[in-house]
Amino acid sequence: MSYKDVYDACKADPEAFWMQAAQAISWVTPPSKAHFAEKAPLYEWFADAEVNGCYNAVDRHVEAGRGDQVAIIHDSPITGTKAKITYADLKDRVASLAGALKAKGVQTGDRVIIYMPMVPEALMAMLACSRIGAVHSVVFGGFASNELAVRIDDATPKAILAASCGLEPGRVVDYKPLLDGAIDLAKHKPDFTLILQREQKPADLIEGRDFDWHAAQEGVAPTDCVPVKGNHPSYILYTSGTTGQPKGVVRDTAGHLVALNWTMKNVYNVDPGDVFWAASDVGWVVGHSYITYAPLVHGNTTIVFEGKPVGTPDAGTFWRVISEHNVRSFFTAPTAFRAIKREDPDGDFVKKYDLSCLRVLYLAGERADPETIKWAERHLNVPVIDHWWQTELGYPAIANPVGVELLKVKYGSPAVAMPGYEFFAVDEAGHRLPPNTLGAIVTPLPLPPGTLPTLWNAEARFKKSYLTTFPGYYETGDAGMIDEDGYIYIMARTDDVINVAGHRLSTGAMEEVLAAHPDVAECAVIGVSDDLKGQLPLGFLCLNRGCNRPHADIVSETVKLVREKIGPVAAFKLATVVDRLPKTRSGKILRATMVKIADGEDFKMPATIDDPAILDEIREALKPMGYAKG
Ligand code: COA
Ligand code: AMP
Repeated sequence: MSYKDVYDACKADPEAFWMQAAQAISWVTPPSKAHFAEKAPLYEWFADAEVNGCYNAVDRHVEAGRGDQVAIIHDSPITGTKAKITYADLKDRVASLAGALKAKGVQTGDRVIIYMPMVPEALMAMLACSRIGAVHSVVFGGFASNELAVRIDDATPKAILAASCGLEPGRVVDYKPLLDGAIDLAKHKPDFTLILQREQKPADLIEGRDFDWHAAQEGVAPTDCVPVKGNHPSYILYTSGTTGQPKGVVRDTAGHLVALNWTMKNVYNVDPGDVFWAASDVGWVVGHSYITYAPLVHGNTTIVFEGKPVGTPDAGTFWRVISEHNVRSFFTAPTAFRAIKREDPDGDFVKKYDLSCLRVLYLAGERADPETIKWAERHLNVPVIDHWWQTELGYPAIANPVGVELLKVKYGSPAVAMPGYEFFAVDEAGHRLPPNTLGAIVTPLPLPPGTLPTLWNAEARFKKSYLTTFPGYYETGDAGMIDEDGYIYIMARTDDVINVAGHRLSTGAMEEVLAAHPDVAECAVIGVSDDLKGQLPLGFLCLNRGCNRPHADIVSETVKLVREKIGPVAAFKLATVVDRLPKTRSGKILRATMVKIADGEDFKMPATIDDPAILDEIREALKPMGYAKG
């Protein structure tokens, strides 16, 4: 079958297409139908089925006689350790952990927050929740207490599962004080925490609230998989939006299993038993979908990598992992390749390893610049596939479906719509634009299975964020264009979200932190282009009248504040003091124009600008920082 056959089959009869895909899932009660439109414009898939996510990811492989196959390889160049966990081991460990959660009162539907580094226990924590129908919410380790507290208050978890520490190159990240700080800050208090003590920095436990991960499992009966309804939420994953309040993307159980499983062969071209590696973090959607659920549901071996593309110990780490563990398909963010290319422009490290096992490289998370793709193609000698998706969608929506048919690669485009999607570029009034014309990228409702049914506790925000601007469509928040062959080019965001090293961040959230500095009267944060990380946040600070403190002090205080309030992952290190911000006559800050100035690009003077002279002041403020050239 060609891509066109598959795509057209889904378009002609989505019900039949997804019911067919659903046959690969082991159901307790099979779905009577695929699509449920009763709550439109909120849609559900396989809602009346009964199923368990953990059973599909773990137990069924053991029952099928594959218990000895390695499920998880943990490779940690930071600690110098490697471990292999078979499906049979994984089943025992997850059943035991789930038993401990149940014994401590966690029930189906209860929320559990997971705040953990890249260790196999992070996956076990997710799977243990799934086993008993608890709804997990993983919080990325690079977020600080305040961000964790916001998520605790929104998800109101019964329990928090954490490790005592995470490990960054040259630095131990002490998770426990961050966790304690978050619980202090939050209005909602979890009943208990389970702490995985790591030898690099064991934590002090608070009696009665904190329990040791292993001790809590002693003498507790392992527990079996609990069937849940197809539309039961399997997890909440918070992602950045326009404001400081993150959006709690909900993922259902059944649609998620069906769609993820479908992608493993059709997009990532792996068969059960093959080793699949997504070098990301469990705190991001890539970690949920392609480190944990999809490879395990599909019966692959997944790799949990605790390291960086460079510096752990060198720019050859990725190649070592690929050759040592026989990786077939590899997925990472373009920024990782830019980091490697910068250290090893001639690919000398690549030549040290036998990479004949690798068949395809997949890139996503940010725009893949053609130079990076060409470098990877030249040195790895495999197809390099850019593909596009979002936390909201959960799996590739625009891709080159290698397992169906390797389509022609067009540099700068993540290729074409996957089954269930039909992308259009539209103008502000929602009219479809002709080919190669920049517009807002949208896709008609309903979205296919496995995509977000709503936002946690925020149905109105869900509708406003995604369904209202262009009625009948899902608004991606991205701008781009589509060529005559249906190849989609994603160019930028239409909102204030920026993408730093493949991490999605809200400039609005950073502005809220800067505005809280006692000397700051007004501020704006924009994303400026960066050769390594794609974008970097840069802050403009207008100080209170009469403030005569040294600007350098205020700038460094704001940098510290963002690190403390949002976390190191915000990578906020650039700020400058200006007298005024450029605005429209109605008072809207002209952030997009400031981005153009910072990046040295041509721009059209906004017709509604209040005082064009301020743009020169912005340009002058940026020049000493190395921006606004040209
Ligand atoms: N826990 C605690 N801190 C973390 C963290 C975590 N899990 N992840 C990152 N941080 C910290 C980093 O240590 C760094 O701190 P610093 O300011 O003290 O140096 C800061 O957050 C910024 O991190 P990052 O933007 O990732 O920069 P980096 O210089 O550490 O690494 C790259 C740069 C390109 C090597 C790295 O970003 C990378 O590998 N990116 C791959 C992208 C990726 O996996 N994206 C996921 C979506 S697919
Ligand atoms: P996240 O929800 O963190 O996965 O971020 C999703 C956003 O990252 C998208 O809306 C895009 O803005 C951007 N993005 C992801 N993949 C790509 C890609 N292949 N090309 C361009 N932008 C991308």
